[in-house]
Amino acid sequence: MDTARIEEVVGDFVHLKKRGTSLIGNCPFHGEKTPSFHVSVTKGIYKCFGCGKGGDSVRFIMDHEKYSYPEALKFLANKYNIEVEETELTPQDAEAQSAKESLYIVSQYASAFFVKQLWETEEGKGIGLSYFKERGFREDILKKFEVGYSPDVWDAMTQSAINAGHNLEFLEATGLSIKNDNGKIYDRFRGRVMFPIHNFTGRIIGFGGRTLKTDKNVPKYVNSPESEIYHKSNVLYGLFHAKKAIRDTDNCYLAEGYADVLSVHQAGIENVVASSGTSLTVEQIKLIGRFTQNVTILFDGDAAGIKASLRGLDMILEEGLNVKIVSFPDGHDPDSYMHHVGAGAFKTYLEQNRKDFILYKANVLLKDAGDDPIKRAGIIRDIVESIAKIPDQIKASVFIRECSSLLEIEERILLTELNKMRSAKSKKTFESNQRANHSSNNSYSSGAPEPLGPPDNLWDDQAGPGEVQQTSAEDHQEKEVVRLLLAYGHEFVNWDSIDDMYIGSFIMQNLADVDFENSLCKKIVDYYKSEIDNGRLPTANHFIKNEDRDIADLAITLSTSEYALSENWLNKHQIYVKDESMHLKATILGGIFHLKKHKVDKILSNLLREIKEEKDADNQIILMQRYGVIKGVEREISKFLGSVVVK
Ligand code: CTP
Ligand code: MN
Repeated sequence: MDTARIEEVVGDFVHLKKRGTSLIGNCPFHGEKTPSFHVSVTKGIYKCFGCGKGGDSVRFIMDHEKYSYPEALKFLANKYNIEVEETELTPQDAEAQSAKESLYIVSQYASAFFVKQLWETEEGKGIGLSYFKERGFREDILKKFEVGYSPDVWDAMTQSAINAGHNLEFLEATGLSIKNDNGKIYDRFRGRVMFPIHNFTGRIIGFGGRTLKTDKNVPKYVNSPESEIYHKSNVLYGLFHAKKAIRDTDNCYLAEGYADVLSVHQAGIENVVASSGTSLTVEQIKLIGRFTQNVTILFDGDAAGIKASLRGLDMILEEGLNVKIVSFPDGHDPDSYMHHVGAGAFKTYLEQNRKDFILYKANVLLKDAGDDPIKRAGIIRDIVESIAKIPDQIKASVFIRECSSLLEIEERILLTELNKMRSAKSKKTFESNQRANHSSNNSYSSGAPEPLGPPDNLWDDQAGPGEVQQTSAEDHQEKEVVRLLLAYGHEFVNWDSIDDMYIGSFIMQNLADVDFENSLCKKIVDYYKSEIDNGRLPTANHFIKNEDRDIADLAITLSTSEYALSENWLNKHQIYVKDESMHLKATILGGIFHLKKHKVDKILSNLLREIKEEKDADNQIILMQRYGVIKGVEREISKFLGSVVVK
């Protein structure tokens, strides 16, 4: 973490300029023209004030390259030539890991073997390469995708791998080699052109092999089976080569086959992937969603085929992605159309023929239905069903409006239909949430009643049942205290009679009796408390770089709030902003006592409710006495806040 300096790691991807004590640049996570992406060298973190993304070096690589935590660590280790020793593995884990690694290695070996066959052998050049050339593929594209050729021999690849010292066990585990009932070993792929399949970090995990024979009895494609390294449902062909372009263009073209991906690339469009014959899975959609929210489907096939696949696309809407469609004329697919019209015209075609999925679907179905009123009614339900899948309500209502004019149906009728479907759906999710949250105590997650208003309302018969919920003011005040802990915990208290004490300890001492409602704040405060009890003072970095992503997020947001920049603005721009560090005493006491007042107010509200509900007169008197005492505390706090704290 010390070596991977934030300015160097971010600097590889973002052009940074010095501005005061921090560096700024254009945020790589959202499009912007004026920089709002700040890098603090001293804190080792970045924060975009435009889109809110923030974190340390590892987080940056995770977000930018879409890597998991371990992948990001390995990326950084590689950048700084640090060897990663995985000493924590149990012997069983280590064995499994190295077995998995061996599968990658034999796959890589096989791929290199197929590539060599294609480019360097008579059979490969004469059959494989000339096939690709005939179809119009350029050499650079064939090389980029590492396509190859498997000779039409019983076990050429297996023998070559074994001679090179690879273990048959791993060749079999990847499905590259097959042992028949008689114990004879042979190659899965024979006499085919080979498309290696990469995972999104670029390692080869499987293959698709296309036959060159026209015999209808020979399957067109033979594919690697599922293995320890190849899980078909969460792999998209071409993603490794497309991911940068997907992010840059903020769109992902989705085609069907290997050939389509290569051809679209060849036209200079690199943001394209294929689902490779299987129907699209939720995992694949989520994978795209890591890079962009916009999917453009490149449909091949005839009208009937298109109609059949329309329903499957609702799944993409459900994941919150925007879906567009391009279809091709005369039964062309992206591959054949590209070679038919040429790269330039193909590119223009894609740009000019993108249609929104919902409107496209409405149009297709409408044409189909003609004037048949029953069929038309069916279409309305079908379309509204798709719209109901869109999680964003505003987006959905725009579609309702557009479909209303397209289908010539009043918006109101479509909305009624939409609401019916939505309420049926939300009833279902509410019920399953209820089950899932049964043991959780997070008051916001399970459709809890709205937070109640000010305490006065409690005398009102309208007040809701149960405990008073956490209000946003309380949430804000808890976060403010945590922010103060992170920002000033290490400074000394040197006011009035108190000195020789860290602000961190001072805050903790003063809040010893306060329960935090916000579960993240509570975690941070509890940890802080236990460290102080053990004579240690936690650093802000401990939370900023916390392995719990939610804690790290909160710590980063809080320690890069507007106040953190105030000094900077003051010095460099001669702009005066409220500078809390000059009034530290007021700031800290304000934070502590505002929160205390809030907690006391809450106790008072609850007491009022109890008093109101208590039927027994004696008990009521006891409760009222308690109320009086606590009201006294509340008055003291208010007085204190009024006199000492100017905030
Ligand atoms: N596919 C498969 N097995 C088959 C046919 C197809 O696995 N028997 C998968 C392949 O991943 C293929 C995709 O479905 O890429 C789409 O099929 P198709 O359009 O027929 O293949 P293309 O890759 O376009 O091949 P070509 O253009 O060379 O016919
Ligand atoms: Mn094709």
